[in-house]
Amino acid sequence: MAAEVNASILIFGASGDLTSRKLIPALFRLSQQKYLPPNCPVTGVARREKSHEEFRAELKEVVAARLGDQFDPVAWESFARQLYYQQLDIADVAEYSGLHESIQQIERQANVTGDPTRIVYLATTPALFASAVEGLNAAGMIPPRDAASRLRVVVEKPFGRDLDSAIELAARLDRYLMESQIYRIDHYLGKETVQNILLFRFGNAIFEPLLNRNHVEHIQITVAESQGMEGSRGGYYDSSGALRDVLQNHVLQLLCLIAMDPPSLFQAREIRDEKLKVLQALRPGNAGAVGNWVVRGQYTAGLVNRQAVAGYREEDRVSPTSNRETYVAMKVAIDNWRWAGVPFFLRTGKRMPKQLTEIAIQFKNPPLNLFSTVECDGDLCDLVETRPNQLIIRIQPQEAISLRFSTKRPGMNYQVQPVSMDFDYDQHFDQVLPEAYERLLLDVMRGDSTLFTRSDELEAAWRFVTPVLTAWESSSSSPDFYPAGTWGPPSADRLIGENKALWRTPR
Ligand code: BG6
Repeated sequence: MAAEVNASILIFGASGDLTSRKLIPALFRLSQQKYLPPNCPVTGVARREKSHEEFRAELKEVVAARLGDQFDPVAWESFARQLYYQQLDIADVAEYSGLHESIQQIERQANVTGDPTRIVYLATTPALFASAVEGLNAAGMIPPRDAASRLRVVVEKPFGRDLDSAIELAARLDRYLMESQIYRIDHYLGKETVQNILLFRFGNAIFEPLLNRNHVEHIQITVAESQGMEGSRGGYYDSSGALRDVLQNHVLQLLCLIAMDPPSLFQAREIRDEKLKVLQALRPGNAGAVGNWVVRGQYTAGLVNRQAVAGYREEDRVSPTSNRETYVAMKVAIDNWRWAGVPFFLRTGKRMPKQLTEIAIQFKNPPLNLFSTVECDGDLCDLVETRPNQLIIRIQPQEAISLRFSTKRPGMNYQVQPVSMDFDYDQHFDQVLPEAYERLLLDVMRGDSTLFTRSDELEAAWRFVTPVLTAWESSSSSPDFYPAGTWGPPSADRLIGENKALWRTPR
């Protein structure tokens, strides 16, 4: 699908990190690939006074540094002509009165003809989402309902801090915008390998019949990061934590994609309906208190990639007595016919040994163990039996899919040898995978909301995690500590150990 030919992009919060690190590089790539129409102005909106030229020069410096050798100065000069700047105090609704006129002037300068489709990207702090939309309304920039698609508003997470605040934010946006005009970004859905989950499942006939309670023992989803609180991240993170920052959105979206039923059509509404059903069927994995099925961890000082790193409480802008979780693991159940009785183990954390996102599906053991072999390492010998089959979907890095199965070790006896069959994106496709933001921005321009979170999905996700947040907030106990550079606290091993399973420790 081609992008709108008559579009105008506004980025609110243009001096922020997201704009220079993600949005502008993504738009630059789209322009190089001819996905961004050359007469589509990209207007940065922020509080400071700045000329168009100053804005272009500032962005050039950041993007050139970020792209290094890949930076093409000639292509940049041509793209930079599409960049404009508009000063505005986004928080002050009274200031919006002249905004429409100024933007129309920029659009005329960029040779936009007629009424363009405006894409307003709210790359601001969440506290400004509602005032930005109220301001757009005051400026007369919200089109009538029968022309609703001429305004699309992109919202970055976090959408609220818990169920109540998410509902309140939704109500404030709903006053002026229709659901079809709101594009809630979860950048995980823009990742190539995440989109491939649906194609892999529903574009092949051989895997889908196995993905259910008859064959699957359990499923693990891991979003591990080696980073800590780089830059000034600690300030935001200490009021957020791993559950709000990554599990409530990225991890639950991965869960939806691996667990959902096939949609009747490959279209936004049908796909999101199926994802919603998964979220609605989510249950705690064990009965009783939150501590029975959720582990809350926090890193202490340790070694990551052989570098000594500080503990969370010593990080810049983090309270030295903070109980904020930098790691969360949980056991959840999906109460439906497909998945009843199959535990899903979810975990995410900062300062893990490596950066890694994967989904591991562990299948049941063969009903009889006919084969075994003895593995010896020095004097230590272990009996190795047929290992359960595993299907690993590696989202990042080294994007891949591998299937582990047992084979006969060559020789005069029947001995087991676990092996794996691997599909590696890098080896197979001679092409750099597109960045998540490129795909998502293009989809907004195309008016395709498939890869964006619908408000009912968001609400269902908050409904599930809010009792956990509430239980933690009313407790004075500390999180379970783990040294930086390890795979989380021992309590997480005990959680999965109840099911006689182990977390994968990918090398
Ligand atoms: C963001 C979180 O949404 O996702 C960050 O706020 C996290 O804390 C990031 O680091 C992870 O994204 P990615 O694409 O690097 O896996």
